[in-house]
Amino acid sequence: MSTAEKMKVLVIGAGAREHSLCWKLRRSARVGTVYCAPGNPGIAREATLTPLKVDDLEGLLQFALKQQIDLTVVGPEFPLTLGIVDLFRSHGLRIFGPSKAAARIEGSKSFAKEVMLAAGVPTARCATFTNEREAADYVRQQGAPIVLKADGLAAGKGVHVCMDLDQALGALTNLFGELGSSTVVAEEFLHGVEVSYIVATDGERVVPCASAHDYKRIFDGDLGPNTGGMGSVSPTPRFSLAQEQEVLEQVIAPVLSEMRSRGTPFSGFLYAGLMLQPDGKISVLEFNARMGDPECQSILRRLDSDLAEILYSLSDRGAALPPQRWRPETAVCLVLAADGYPGTVKNGDQISGIAQAEELPEVVVFHAGTRLDDSGHLLTSGGRVLTVSALGMDLAEARSRAYRAADMIGFRGCQVRRDIAKN
Ligand code: AMP
Ligand code: GLY
Repeated sequence: MSTAEKMKVLVIGAGAREHSLCWKLRRSARVGTVYCAPGNPGIAREATLTPLKVDDLEGLLQFALKQQIDLTVVGPEFPLTLGIVDLFRSHGLRIFGPSKAAARIEGSKSFAKEVMLAAGVPTARCATFTNEREAADYVRQQGAPIVLKADGLAAGKGVHVCMDLDQALGALTNLFGELGSSTVVAEEFLHGVEVSYIVATDGERVVPCASAHDYKRIFDGDLGPNTGGMGSVSPTPRFSLAQEQEVLEQVIAPVLSEMRSRGTPFSGFLYAGLMLQPDGKISVLEFNARMGDPECQSILRRLDSDLAEILYSLSDRGAALPPQRWRPETAVCLVLAADGYPGTVKNGDQISGIAQAEELPEVVVFHAGTRLDDSGHLLTSGGRVLTVSALGMDLAEARSRAYRAADMIGFRGCQVRRDIAKN
């Protein structure tokens, strides 16, 4: 397309991550229209919504062909693992994301381990089991703490960090039984702090995102069950520039090279979930084949360059990469979750205060689980309901802005961690 023409962009997904993608793409000088499938009421402020589900690959393809979409950006992993990128590319459509084969790096923990081993990337020792009895024998022999993981996608429910043997044996029954996993990975427990390191790549060239970390557990002090993420910070004070460089050289580059040599180059956002161990070692806990949620919301608040230009160039092997600049401020995001999350949630409660919160300096509220009723009231409709994001000159300012904004927003049973960005 000529530089004078404005792009039509399609974002796939319905969460706060996709809201932040639409928000940023909408602010690109290169973008004319942003579409989102299926989106949510907050995304409707930035994009034209189409009510297509993220796994309706054929519907999404027909939509993109009809609207002559110039660039599609995929938010969640599910359509990636179904092969949406392969399908769009086979029809000549430009799409930013990994192929089905490359998305296995997230879709299968044992595949990710195999790639890491071949690429010489540091990761926890592990063993893979296809029956509960053998897994239980191994767990008894190894002892606790130990981490047990479903091999496939499990909507955040497939990882058990077990501190004693009884818990570990119970976790195996849950994974092989209730969750119906055919393969379970047993992994050495690693101590340390976690960092999310995300790059955008075309398989070879790499655009590193600003560093970030999220907060996995539902309760303050990192207690309670794992969630999709209850808050995020960018840049993360946990990670030095030298460590970023180390991860680029010793994790990202060898994994991309290994994926190329297997004939399945990885393009899209590659997310390395890292454990920074007390002895200074950096180990990879997992890869995701997409942006993190809520890391994306913090990262994109700080991107000072044109996201559409970066992703468009990375979707076209010949194109030169535009410059990438990051705002020097710190971003803090707080997730407001519904009563019961991450278990069974209660929904349908009215949400108030978003407009007032967004009047505060440098505050943007991204929607996830929201819907409008017939009278136009905004209601809760999902586990994670909103992400409140704020920028500040430093962590303390961003944090106090984010909490002031979050405290202006209300719905029955709202859960917010009070210790985000404290450490
Ligand atoms: P994963 O989906 O593999 O990233 O696991 C989800 C969460 O479980 C991680 O973010 C960690 O908090 C925890 N976890 C996973 N693997 C390990 C490990 N080997 N040692 C300690 N904690 C882990
Ligand atoms: N926040 C963790 C993830 O997106 O997987």
